[in-house]
Amino acid sequence: MTSPSRPASPDPTVDADTVAVIGAGGIGVAWAVLFSAAGVGVRLHEANETVRSRAIAEVRSKLAELSGAGLLEEEVDAVISRVAVTETLEEALAGAAFVQECVVEDVDVKHALFAEMDRLADPAAVLASSTSTIMASRFADGLPGRHRCVVVHPGNPPYILRIAEIVPAAFTSEETVAAASALMRRVGITPIVLHHEIEGFAFNRLQGALLREAYCLVRDGVVSPADLDTLVREGLGLRWSVIGPFTTSELNTRGGLRRHAEVLGPIYARIGVERATENPWSPETVERVATEIESRLPHAAWEENVRERDRAMIRLSSLLRGFANPLAPAPAPAPAPADAPGRDGAADGTKPSPATPSEHREAPAHDARTAAGASRTERVSSVSSLRM
Ligand SMILES: NC(=O)c1ccc[n+]([C@@H]2O[C@H](COP(=O)([O-])OP(=O)(O)OC[C@H]3O[C@@H](n4cnc5c(N)ncnc54)[C@H](O)[C@@H]3O)[C@@H](O)[C@H]2O)c1
Repeated sequence: MTSPSRPASPDPTVDADTVAVIGAGGIGVAWAVLFSAAGVGVRLHEANETVRSRAIAEVRSKLAELSGAGLLEEEVDAVISRVAVTETLEEALAGAAFVQECVVEDVDVKHALFAEMDRLADPAAVLASSTSTIMASRFADGLPGRHRCVVVHPGNPPYILRIAEIVPAAFTSEETVAAASALMRRVGITPIVLHHEIEGFAFNRLQGALLREAYCLVRDGVVSPADLDTLVREGLGLRWSVIGPFTTSELNTRGGLRRHAEVLGPIYARIGVERATENPWSPETVERVATEIESRLPHAAWEENVRERDRAMIRLSSLLRGFANPLAPAPAPAPAPADAPGRDGAADGTKPSPATPSEHREAPAHDARTAAGASRTERVSSVSSLRM
């Protein structure tokens, strides 16, 4: 992941005090909320004048939601003073150590924009794309600064779903991945670094697998769209909000994950073969699902429905953040200084050291039982000023 003729490398130790966010649609505004709440200055650029003129109000209204839920440490005015909306791309990029592109999902638009950003941005700045589906090799190949281009794909919205997939192209430098990961940790996001590019990345491949089966079940008359949503919302979703699918396999079967694979593997393999043939989302099925969904959620109220969803996720995520992953490996205790009378690390349960979620993920498994009991509440990320 190196480039022979690169002008400068992103510095993984650099604290990005100013980031540029390009595009002020739903995702750009959400990044601006996240970065500003975490104490980072934001220059938000948007090409469309109407969208640009309402961008600050959008950021403010989301910050106010967070504040109203007791999730913002500072006053909204103090946070929003870190956000500046710029008319030109050049103004947004000036002095920014990190750029988060959030424009429309169109490879040609992104390709042209990355060429422009590579020309205008500080040579050591990271150029990250929020794209949900387009690999960096499709929009940054051939650029002189392609080594600093990378996908940083958030969950929607990133100030609530605290993960981002970092997807390097073969030409992306390790320093770029390290710098993007460090910034994500700083603002309270757990970076999930994919080892190589793949269409749909991991998040949307998983989401796509579930949707493929969901459409098939509705198409075949097995279940109604409303009941399918309920099944995921109140069943799989609730469980997945505390443990992932592999941990579920481990805990759902006496004998653990291996036994689970023995018992259920052949059945899931048969289902996989049955679905392996082409199972597109047929227009008829999409129409049927859309009609049923719209009878409950009229499209005219889309913006309000999104806000309501976000309010619910804010409430839920603040609860979940209170106990983090109950089964996460804990950080290794810090070595005690030679002259210290006793240990002062998290494992003694008295004074846990602050740690980012990813530090939990990467910590050695053998510490899990000792420190998992040690004050889970305090082991939430303290890097962001969002109280979540
Ligand atoms: N919506 C999601 O659930 C989601 C989740 C994760 C990632 N993403 C990705 O984030 C990106 C943005 O998605 P969105 O939902 O915010 O889209 P959106 O359509 O709401 O917003 C895109 C904005 O970019 C602006 N824009 C277009 N070209 C521009 C340019 N050259 N310079 C400045 N501004 C420009 C548009 O005017 C628009 O306001 C996409 O790549 C999308 O795939 C979306």
